[in-house]
Amino acid sequence: MDLLLLRKTLIGLFAALASAVIISKLRRKRLNLPPGPFSLPLVGSWLQIGNNLDQHDFKNYAKKFGDLFLLRMGTRSIAVISSKDVAKEVLLTQGKEFGSRSRNIVFDIFTGKGQDLVFSEYGEHWRKMRRIVTVPFFTNKVVQHYRANWEAEAAALVDDVRNNPAAATEGIVLRHRLELMVYNNVYKIMCDKRFQGMDDPLFVKLKSINGERSRLGQSLEYNFGDFVPFFRPFLRRYLKICREVTRRRLNFYKNSFIEERKEIASTRGTEINNNGLKCGIDHFLEAQQKGEINEDHVLYIVENMNVAAIETTIWAFEWTIAELINNPKIQTKLRTELDTILGPGHQITEPDTYKLPYLHAVIKESLRLRMVVPCLVPHMNVHQAKLRDYDIPPECRIYINAWWLANDPAHWKKPEEFRPERFLEEEANIEANGNDMKYIPFGVGRRSCPGISIALPVLGITLGRLVQNFELLPPPGQEKIDTMENNGQFAMRMRYHANIVLKPRSFD
Ligand code: HEM
Repeated sequence: MDLLLLRKTLIGLFAALASAVIISKLRRKRLNLPPGPFSLPLVGSWLQIGNNLDQHDFKNYAKKFGDLFLLRMGTRSIAVISSKDVAKEVLLTQGKEFGSRSRNIVFDIFTGKGQDLVFSEYGEHWRKMRRIVTVPFFTNKVVQHYRANWEAEAAALVDDVRNNPAAATEGIVLRHRLELMVYNNVYKIMCDKRFQGMDDPLFVKLKSINGERSRLGQSLEYNFGDFVPFFRPFLRRYLKICREVTRRRLNFYKNSFIEERKEIASTRGTEINNNGLKCGIDHFLEAQQKGEINEDHVLYIVENMNVAAIETTIWAFEWTIAELINNPKIQTKLRTELDTILGPGHQITEPDTYKLPYLHAVIKESLRLRMVVPCLVPHMNVHQAKLRDYDIPPECRIYINAWWLANDPAHWKKPEEFRPERFLEEEANIEANGNDMKYIPFGVGRRSCPGISIALPVLGITLGRLVQNFELLPPPGQEKIDTMENNGQFAMRMRYHANIVLKPRSFD
């Protein structure tokens, strides 16, 4: 009986393999696909390439196969783009055709198959979600309304560090305190809320549940099951945990934040608590009441903001602070700019940031060398498309290697060096908003990051205050901060959260 079953399975497998070979041969003949590594039926190039794919691997493959190449990873087609021209074609000229998102099996779970904003297909739903989020988050009015809040949060961070004796001696993991600040900035806009401190039970729970999601989502280890459906049963436990974490997270957002806002709105009106401005959740609930979106969509917007707005900004802080510590001359030059232009002791505010070209250059340089979303969030074409003369199969995952565009020695002078001066000298005309395709840390076009209007001032105010108030140093006995990378599905993070010394300056 067992033998019979085995024979049937083998015959089935053989038949599947044979038809896959024939189909793939026919398809290759019909389509003019971009070049790429050797690929087998069913598993594609997964056997040679494995699970770990990051911007460095993509750079190496591009040297071999060119600036538009195609990887067949199991049933997934992945096109990788490593030139300004093709990136422009995808993000701008054919922005509609390539304006959808590719989700892997884990992000299908996290986003209810794209019911959210970040991973939704390009179309009516995405447009609606983006519009609903824009009013409370992404207008100039928002910056003007919340900037005093961002300054106050940065001041509270400085006070806490000053009051912690360990900061000036053995050092502290500043990231932990920065997390509180970034959460407070985003939660103020989203639900007019402030966490009282690092021990605030609600904050502790929120951080922990978001951390679980981040670990599960960013891991590269589940790629084999995403690429090759045949292996998916081996991921059953992993995917079950993902489903469970998603359920707990969405319930937590609902019970701890959304219900509270509903209560406030029904008893006191939405504008009472926030100096006449409705907070994000009030807007989302209003859109729900109007029938534009449903309750799940409200939850998914809140979930998106917990990742897109918070994690990216924290990673950017960690990298920039590490670079300032490892490049003390640059740190001193920045401090001199702050002291000279603002006067020693005057604490930087948001309008001040526009007077400080070197501060801007430092932030741009950090986002260039240490691009936190190095291949953007993967784009996708729903239908078959053309790029250059090649056919791009439908539902192809598109990675734009934005990190390589910003680190290619053919286009940048000594790109491996952390040298903010480049943005005041040979690259003085380049902005972070994508005015040149070789530098697109926030993407460009329809799916570009709307959060740039918040991220840049928050980075400017906070880094400015840190450098004004402290000398940032490696911990005793160490010459530099370890800047080893930890690359995930979409993120380039620092492998270790650095312990750093912050020596207070006095202005007497
Ligand atoms: C240093 C900080 C940040 C960086 C480097 C960053 C980078 C990015 C990148 C590269 C994308 C994808 C662009 C593309 O695929 O074409 C993106 C998308 C997005 N970001 Fe950011 N981001 C940051 C901060 C923020 C903040 C603070 C918010 C919200 C307050 C935010 C909200 C979003 C949203 C909603 C999307 C999805 C847009 C869409 O699909 O339509 N980001 N971000």
